[in-house]
Amino acid sequence: MTELRVAHTADLGAATLAEARRLLDDVFGDEMTADDWEHALGGMHALVWDGVELVGHASVIQRRLVHSGRALRTGYVEGVGVRSSHRGRGHGAALMRPLERVIRQAYDLGALGSTDEAASFYARRGWQRWEGPTSALTPNGIARTADCDGSIYVLQVGLELDLTGELTCDWRGGDVW
Ligand SMILES: CC(C)(COP(=O)(O)OP(=O)(O)OC[C@H]1O[C@@H](n2cnc3c(N)ncnc32)[C@H](O)[C@@H]1OP(=O)(O)O)[C@@H](O)C(=O)NCCC(=O)NCCS
Repeated sequence: MTELRVAHTADLGAATLAEARRLLDDVFGDEMTADDWEHALGGMHALVWDGVELVGHASVIQRRLVHSGRALRTGYVEGVGVRSSHRGRGHGAALMRPLERVIRQAYDLGALGSTDEAASFYARRGWQRWEGPTSALTPNGIARTADCDGSIYVLQVGLELDLTGELTCDWRGGDVW
């Protein structure tokens, strides 16, 4: 039997958080860094269990993205992963649904940095590829993040966005997008 739980980081408890971290380590292998995990904390998590086994995780945290001179309150999706043995059964969609609701109800837009593999998964759910140049607001000023161009997806929830314009993210350790 599968179970979906949606909760804030504050309410998950150390054991569940450790389990979620182990799941993402299994899903992403060496690509999963301590910074990546830290980026997934401080917001709402969606988790799917198959019996006692955690098989899926995703979270949405708040960031500021600057676009057309405005600092937009953004629900940024992190740590999306379903155990390989459990893919193709609707768990990814079940994780995204409540997080997209949070984005629609609480933020100006949703955003995420997609893996190549997952791009069409998000596109099918209505996420749109950011076509313009990306950059980050670093301690030394705005710096282009050309290697991330084309991999950022946004969920528009009301604001008119120019997808060909510049999109700048706030600063953080590790991968900025
Ligand atoms: C991307 C991922 C989370 C999808 O999880 P999943 O449980 O397999 O997804 P679902 O079964 O809910 O699929 C939902 C829909 O998306 C489609 N889909 C799933 N993965 C897809 C993919 N990689 N490309 C295209 N379509 C995909 C499914 O066919 C399904 O379509 P339907 O609604 O028409 O039936 C999972 O493949 C994964 O963990 N991948 C590795 C980690 C990763 O890349 N995470 C994303 C980080 S940005």
